[in-house]
Amino acid sequence: MSAPNKSYDPVEVEALKPDAIERMRADALAAIAAAGDLEALTHVKTAHTGGGSPLALANREIGALPPQAKAEAGKRVGQARGAVNQALAARQVELEAERDARVLVEEAVDVTLPYDRRPAGARHPLTTLSDRIEDIFTAMGYEVAEGPEVEAEWFNFDALNFPPDHPARETQDTFFVEGPDGGSESGVVLRTHTSPVQIRALLQRELPVYVIAPGRVYRSDELDATHTPVFAQVELLAVDEGLTMADLKGTLDHMVVSLFGEGMTTRLRPNHFPFTEPSAEMDMLCYVCRGESVGNPDRPCRTCSSEGWIELGGCGVVNPRVLTACGVDPEKYSGFAFGFGIERMMMFRHNVEDMRDIVEGDVRFTLPFGMEI
Ligand code: PHE
Repeated sequence: MSAPNKSYDPVEVEALKPDAIERMRADALAAIAAAGDLEALTHVKTAHTGGGSPLALANREIGALPPQAKAEAGKRVGQARGAVNQALAARQVELEAERDARVLVEEAVDVTLPYDRRPAGARHPLTTLSDRIEDIFTAMGYEVAEGPEVEAEWFNFDALNFPPDHPARETQDTFFVEGPDGGSESGVVLRTHTSPVQIRALLQRELPVYVIAPGRVYRSDELDATHTPVFAQVELLAVDEGLTMADLKGTLDHMVVSLFGEGMTTRLRPNHFPFTEPSAEMDMLCYVCRGESVGNPDRPCRTCSSEGWIELGGCGVVNPRVLTACGVDPEKYSGFAFGFGIERMMMFRHNVEDMRDIVEGDVRFTLPFGMEI
């Protein structure tokens, strides 16, 4: 009977000999150290720790050894695998740090470099001013109303109580749209003011009506320093029970204070418009000299030519004939309206001397208004 095979020689399992394991460990560590980037390291990892790697294969042989040799070989292989995994993890951290540092340099953006940007355009200062005026009134509960620029003569003139032979209907003032036969009998004009929006608002809306209507208007004027055939107006209309000229005055004063600051005021001078009765020309206190240049040769004012007042536009109490034309009972309702040109307002608000600068669309004009294009 033979004794237990205590002297079973593990040398028979080549792969588990100490120097073989040592070589596997050394090979793996050398390959890890040689991996130049994360991709190479992934391959090294598969080759030296994957299922088919020498250490994994050696590990599989351990089971065949007798207990003592098994423990020793297991320890050796385990240590070798531990060392390899540790080296892998350490190299991984190193290579990641290298990659991050490289990416930071390679993908850095120099935000101070000059760049090539196409100007995107910006709102015109005229639009901004018009919006500001709109804001003042919407804050008081007014609604913004609109109407077409190509308007029926009836809205532009008739409903506003212009008699058929009123001079404003002449071609020297009004652009008529050609009729189908090339004549001027189309009954359609380019609106000469924003007042037709009054009619549209009264016909379309429930009473009371409080509207502000900014918009473009047309008159057959030559373009010069103070005229342009296309310009912008703001129209205001309030129709309610019991409105009077006093409400109009208070509203105008509030507007000029909001636009030009405390202490500003307006004054009314008699005038005539077919659609308001009584009608007035509205002036505002000169916002530069505040009236102090009047009769004071030591303090001349260029803005108001030392008159103390600047003409703004027209206004008045809505003519009962207009209310009637819109089906509103003038016994019950009354109202007020005003209208003025925004270019003019912009000219004295910003010391613009030539109206052509406003309409020509040159960015050198708009940029000083703080526009970014
Ligand atoms: N529509 C008039 C104009 O263009 C201004 C105006 C509006 C006058 C409203 C009175 C009331 O001159």
